[in-house]
Amino acid sequence: MKSYKQIVKQYSKELRNTTHIPQKEIEMLLLYLLDKNTIWLHLNYDKVCDNQIEQQLSKLVQKRATDYPLEYIIKKVSFFGEIFFIEDGVLIPRPETEILVQKALDTLKDIQNPKVVEVGVGSGIISIMLAILIPNIQIIAVDINKKALELAQKNAKYHNVQDKITFVKSDLFDEVDVLEFDMCISNPPYIANDFKLPKNVTYEPSTALFGGTIGDELLKKIIEQTHNNKIKYLLCEMGYDQKETILFFLEKFDTITKVFYQDLSGLDRGFEIEFNFSGDKL
Ligand SMILES: C[S@@+](CC[C@H](N)C(=O)[O-])C[C@H]1O[C@@H](n2cnc3c(N)ncnc32)[C@H](O)[C@@H]1O
Repeated sequence: MKSYKQIVKQYSKELRNTTHIPQKEIEMLLLYLLDKNTIWLHLNYDKVCDNQIEQQLSKLVQKRATDYPLEYIIKKVSFFGEIFFIEDGVLIPRPETEILVQKALDTLKDIQNPKVVEVGVGSGIISIMLAILIPNIQIIAVDINKKALELAQKNAKYHNVQDKITFVKSDLFDEVDVLEFDMCISNPPYIANDFKLPKNVTYEPSTALFGGTIGDELLKKIIEQTHNNKIKYLLCEMGYDQKETILFFLEKFDTITKVFYQDLSGLDRGFEIEFNFSGDKL
């Protein structure tokens, strides 16, 4: 008979080479199995752990030790202070995407009843956070991945913003009408097709990661299509080494501003463009 404390100590050793926070991860796996919260675990640390729970934990630890992502096991992820459901087959949200959401909020606060289109909604984190935080926003969120769209819809319902977001299966803007929209936002796949991914990332869908032979092909299409649809603002996440090629590509467009931003590691991570359509004929 082992206490939760002993279990945490014992199984932490098995994840020492997988994560730098083995104890925390074992606790998270236990909480997932017990359907309890951290406070409960700390209050019950010296209580006896059921044998069946230990057996289930042992299986999950073995799976996690193969570098299979923790988020896919516990099926939940935190983003912008909120909890979202996540499933394998859909990209796991990354903390740096919170910067993209913050940049969008800064621009959208000055637009009344904004209309936004998101390309590549994935689990829904970006559109849902904007819907939670911006009153009277209308969003069209597209993805080519049916599983992602279903999960995003589930997350939108969980956060009670399903009325503000229309989810559409579409390759870029192919199946949607985005004329008179104010903003396009996207965290598209932007990794070069031949890039060797770390083992844990190989469990995520390749259609969410790889953007083409060079990597920035989809980003360029999004720039082009946003401009063609006369959407004034475009906010995108991008690869740390793509600023130069994106800047060069942007030379053919009339822009009011093009601002690149960095992530918390100081790497180039995204951009915001304001297109200039003032010279266009009516
Ligand atoms: C990097 S993930 C971003 C997911 C989510 N927005 C996030 O930030 O966590 C890119 C998403 O774009 C979708 N995608 C890839 N190609 C696409 C295309 N041509 N049109 C629409 N969505 C696409 C993928 O299925 C994936 O869900």
